[in-house]
Amino acid sequence: MQEKNKSVGIIGIGSYVPDKIITNKDLEKIVETSDEWIVDRTGIKERRVVEPNITTSDLAAYAAEKALCDAGVTADDIDLIIVATATPDMLFPSTACLVQDKIKASKAAAFDLSAGCSGFAYGLVVGSQFIQTGLYKKVLVIGAETLSKILDWTDRNTCVLFGDGAGAVVLGEVPAGYGILGVDLGADGSGGELLKIPAGGSRQPATVESVTARQHFLQMSGSDVFKFAIKVMGEAAIKALDNAGLSNEDIDCLIPHQANNRIIQSAAKRLKVPMEKVVVNVDKYGNTSAASIPLAMDEAIKNDKLQNGDIVVLVGFGAGLTWASCVMKWYKEGKSIV
Ligand code: UT7
Repeated sequence: MQEKNKSVGIIGIGSYVPDKIITNKDLEKIVETSDEWIVDRTGIKERRVVEPNITTSDLAAYAAEKALCDAGVTADDIDLIIVATATPDMLFPSTACLVQDKIKASKAAAFDLSAGCSGFAYGLVVGSQFIQTGLYKKVLVIGAETLSKILDWTDRNTCVLFGDGAGAVVLGEVPAGYGILGVDLGADGSGGELLKIPAGGSRQPATVESVTARQHFLQMSGSDVFKFAIKVMGEAAIKALDNAGLSNEDIDCLIPHQANNRIIQSAAKRLKVPMEKVVVNVDKYGNTSAASIPLAMDEAIKNDKLQNGDIVVLVGFGAGLTWASCVMKWYKEGKSIV
């Protein structure tokens, strides 16, 4: 079992999605696709997208405010902000710094974390270390994305899959034996080419040619990422459970990255978890990358699917390629302990 100095868990959670909905039928008018294909291959029915003037830091700040409120703390109590995102407002400064200013968390350190769709679970693990060592008391971890801004809306292979949104949690100390019990983080950089935005960085700075060639949009080899996901989702969850001294039979609630219903079902099957215990909302929001796990978790809590004492497994995969799993014994103050 992974040893810890303090027990760290989620003491507050909040999420935000923009109001604007794009349905599969709407997409049929933009690219050569069909509602039937999208639902059959992905499970997605609709997704949310921001208005042009709204940025990732806006969504992140909205979700963060809700998480602070849920935790019963103020922005002044926050020691550190970590924003996991693949769609930062700018290359720099970090989106976390922009959020720090927006929510007026003036005492907080702030940085972004880049681990694609695994970013939120990575962020939980990173953020919890600061509390375990005693350096910080409250850490805000946010997964936020405006993927609609980096999608090539002429590419049916990608534009039907993604959506915008944000989810945030406040990490703090929880009673001994609760909170994060075991984790597994990993990466396989050899798969970096499979999911990327080729231009806009130091390898290919923005030029008229790069813009004309649509190199600033997300590109993905979907079937390769699919195969990777099928392999790592189950493996990562099993390793994290093992590190917690638990097994797949202990899972009360599985919250997987919401990329594709077929990937989610495969992970559930591998872990022998019945679908009633799996949180699925990919139908409503599509793949919101780093925001997907906290969005799903917030929904699960609002639907009373998480009880104190439940073993909750978060697991994700994404660009990098990366994967991350985090096993928690759920604890929320004010709720009775099972
Ligand atoms: O969070 C991490 C990010 N990425 C992912 O999670 C994506 C993981 N991958 C996937 O979810 C799936 O691979 C996809 C949903 C992207 C694709 O499903 P697939 O079953 O792997 O399909 P495919 O890529 O093998 O494509 C099958 C066919 C192709 O046509 P041909 O070449 O067989 O004639 C595609 O051109 O489906 C075609 N296709 C579409 N057809 C209608 C691809 N996109 C569409 C579309 N509508 N939107």
